[in-house]
Amino acid sequence: MKLDRNIYVQRRKALLESLDKGSILVLPAATEKVRNRDCEYAYRQDSDFWYLTGFGEPEAVLVLAPGREEGESILFCRKRDRDMEIWHGRRAGQEGAVKEYGFDQAFTINELDEQMPGLLDKRTTVYHTPNADKAFDQKLWGWIDTLRMKERRGSVPPEQVLDRDKLLHTLRLIKTPAEQAIMREAGEISARAHTRAMKECKPGAMEYQLEAAIHHEFAMSGARYPAYTTIVGSGENACILHYTENESELKDGDLVLIDAGCELDYYAADITRTFPVNGKFTEEQKAIYNVVLDAQLASIAEIAPGKPLDAFHKAAVDKLVDGLLELGLLSGKKEKLIEEEAYRAFYMHGTGHWIGMDVHDVGHHKEDGEPVTLQPGMTLTVEPGIYVSPDNMDVEERWRGIGVRIEDDILVTETGNEVLTKDVVKTVEDIEALMA
Ligand code: GLY
Ligand code: MN
Ligand code: MN
Repeated sequence: MKLDRNIYVQRRKALLESLDKGSILVLPAATEKVRNRDCEYAYRQDSDFWYLTGFGEPEAVLVLAPGREEGESILFCRKRDRDMEIWHGRRAGQEGAVKEYGFDQAFTINELDEQMPGLLDKRTTVYHTPNADKAFDQKLWGWIDTLRMKERRGSVPPEQVLDRDKLLHTLRLIKTPAEQAIMREAGEISARAHTRAMKECKPGAMEYQLEAAIHHEFAMSGARYPAYTTIVGSGENACILHYTENESELKDGDLVLIDAGCELDYYAADITRTFPVNGKFTEEQKAIYNVVLDAQLASIAEIAPGKPLDAFHKAAVDKLVDGLLELGLLSGKKEKLIEEEAYRAFYMHGTGHWIGMDVHDVGHHKEDGEPVTLQPGMTLTVEPGIYVSPDNMDVEERWRGIGVRIEDDILVTETGNEVLTKDVVKTVEDIEALMA
C-alpha cells in the first residue's frame, strides 16, 4: 500500500519545474524530541519533508535548486557509520540517497555549512518557512550572511525568503487516487478499532484499556501508530474537548466518547464515536445523540464538488440549533440564536478540518477572500457535537455532563462524496445491536 518510491521523485520533478530558475527551496527534516533524559519520542518525519522525499531519517535537509547542472534535487543526510548503526539503526547514507531515493546528489549532513552558501549564491529567492526549526533558521541566516560578506568577491546573496508552506500545502490539499487508497484503508482500520471498542466495552474497565484495545487493533492491521493522541472520555470527561488523560473508570449508565484514528503510511484517519458504556442509551443520551447524528448527516450531504467550504458547518449548526430548541436546551428565535452564536454554550468547535498526512491537514480555507470551493480529491472531517457542561445551571439537571461527538472522514468525489470511515456503526439502533 505504501506509495511507490518513484512518486516522490516525480513530486520533486514537478515542483522543480514550477519553480523559478532563480529560486531555491530548502526544507529540513523533523528534529528528534527528548521525552526524558536519554529517551526520545518515537521519531516521525515532517509531513512536507516526507511528501517530497519518502525519506524517514532525522538530520537531513532537502534542497531543490532548479537548473543546477550538477543536479537539481539534493539531499544532505547522515553518513553511514558502522558503530552508530549498531547502536541506533540503519542509515541510507549518500549512496543510498542517490540509488534508492533518486536524488541527483547527496552530501553528508556535516557538509551543510560548507555547501549551502555555494548553493544559495546567485539565487534571488529562497523558499523556506521559518519558526518550525529555529536552529535551522539561524544556520540559514548565517549562510546568507556569509554571502553578504563575500559580495565584493562576486557573491550575490538572496533578496527574499518566500513562504515554502504555501507552495507545498496547495499541492497536498488534493489527494491523488494512490493517496486516497491509503486513506481509505486507514479509515477501514480505524473503523474496525472503534467497532472492537464498542464490542469490548464494559462497566468497570478503565478508559486507557479501551485505548489499548484500539491501538492493538491498529497495530494488528498494519498501522503501528495512532495519528494523534487517542481520546477516551467517559461521563463528564466527554465534555473536555481535548481530554487525553484516559484514566477514569468506565461507569454503568455513562456514555463514552472515543476520538481515535490510525496513521497508515503517513496518512491519518480521525473518527469519533460516542456510545453507552453498558450498551443501552438513556432517553436523554439518545435525544442528544440523535440531534448530533442528524446534524452530522445533514452536514455530510453538503460535501460535494462545487460547494463552498463553509456550507457543511452551516448545515450542522442549523440542525444542532433545531435540536437544542426542541429539547429545551436553548430557547428563543432560531435565526437570532444562530446569529449570536448562542449554540456555542453547547457546541464550541468547528465542524471539521482538512485531513491527510497531518490529522489537521494543511491547505488554505479561503480563495480571494471567499471560502474555498470543494474539488474532487479533497478530504475533510465532519464532526459536530453537543457538550452539556456538568456545571451548566441554565439547563435541567438530567442533561448535565452529557457529551456527544460523531466524526467521519469524507473524500470529495467527482459526483459527491465518499465516507472513508463508514464501516463503524453510528445509529442508536445499530450501536445497541452491536453491543448487545
Ligand atoms: N482528533 C482531533 C480532531 O478531531 O480534530
Ligand atoms: Mn477527532
Ligand atoms: Mn477531527
